[in-house]
Amino acid sequence: MFHRSALPPRCFFASFRMSGAPGHQDDAWRARQGSNIIPIVITDGRWNRPAAGSHVGKVVVVTGAAGGMGRSVADLLSGRTGHHVLVVDLDGVLAAATARDLVAAGHEASAFHCDVADRESVFAAANHAMQFGQIELIVHAAGVAPPAVQDPAAILEVNLFGTIHVLDAFDPQRTGLRSAVVVASSGAYRSFSHPLDRELAHLAPGDGVIDSLLERADVIDRPVAAYALAKRGCLVQVARRCVDWGRLGARVNSVSPGLIADTPMGQRAAGGVASSMGIDSALGRAGLAREVAEVVTFLCSDRAAYVTGVDVLVDGGFVARANYDRPADERADWHAGGVQSHDRD
Ligand SMILES: NC(=O)c1ccc[n+]([C@@H]2O[C@H](COP(=O)([O-])OP(=O)(O)OC[C@H]3O[C@@H](n4cnc5c(N)ncnc54)[C@H](O)[C@@H]3O)[C@@H](O)[C@H]2O)c1
Repeated sequence: MFHRSALPPRCFFASFRMSGAPGHQDDAWRARQGSNIIPIVITDGRWNRPAAGSHVGKVVVVTGAAGGMGRSVADLLSGRTGHHVLVVDLDGVLAAATARDLVAAGHEASAFHCDVADRESVFAAANHAMQFGQIELIVHAAGVAPPAVQDPAAILEVNLFGTIHVLDAFDPQRTGLRSAVVVASSGAYRSFSHPLDRELAHLAPGDGVIDSLLERADVIDRPVAAYALAKRGCLVQVARRCVDWGRLGARVNSVSPGLIADTPMGQRAAGGVASSMGIDSALGRAGLAREVAEVVTFLCSDRAAYVTGVDVLVDGGFVARANYDRPADERADWHAGGVQSHDRD
């Protein structure tokens, strides 16, 4: 059984770690604001709010930008677009540091503390971003994975519901967004197609939904399979939304990295269950955050103007090899790590 209160206190962790005026955030401050959304100071005495009358620019939003891949994407997009980059992350301290680094490198950037698993928090981030101007792009890279997070419910809450919250909050209908890229995972390919795909594509977060999914997908005690299910949900959510978004002239795609070893998450995975993913790729090595970021920025750009509703594997050929080059028992093992649903079409 999963309840939000069972989650680690992610919202509060970053805020408690920040100290010193004017960035000091505490319960009293939050109570005065009437919100647990925490704006972050990026330079001494300067809040990450646009100055009055300055709402003329264009904005790029990157979630998870305090982490490895998000940070790499933020670096590339700030240089290539010249737009204001809003760094969105649960880790307020690292988010602020990332924004400061971008500003120090001559770009326009600021940070916003947000828990993507919290729908209100994500809508607050979207509303905040709109204050800076027209939101052009969002890259959603925030996520969690085993072994750092072992609770399958928490994995679904952040990786699946979080993605739905982000796509809802930044929907082009309400923000005017032009292009979105969701960072999924090669884990989504543990199933060729899944009996729950159609349901995942139309899933609406709500009470009991996660419990039901955990049970029917048989992932209650299997964090790796829960991760695969959540990322599968990201792919089908993207595919399903591309039609509505297309009518508005907007595009939505995803990328599915294999093992990306130079991020904090990748470093943890490289020491655990995913350790062989790098050498088992067709290229015989793990990937780099920058290599994923290059594909993401391409998908964001007008060079990919006719690409929407698709997932691009950036895995060095790991999935291709798993499906077509590995012995049958190894292939079966890999797929068995995915979702075994009780449901059938
Ligand atoms: N590294 C890999 O090998 C790998 C492989 C496939 C997919 N991915 C996916 O790529 C994305 C980026 O991974 P990474 O390797 O850069 O990981 P990372 O751990 O370096 O970065 C993830 C970032 O997300 C943030 N985050 C976590 N939970 C959040 C929440 N609830 N709200 C807001 N922010 C939150 C973290 O604070 C962190 O800054 C993730 O979605 C991950 O699942 C990673």
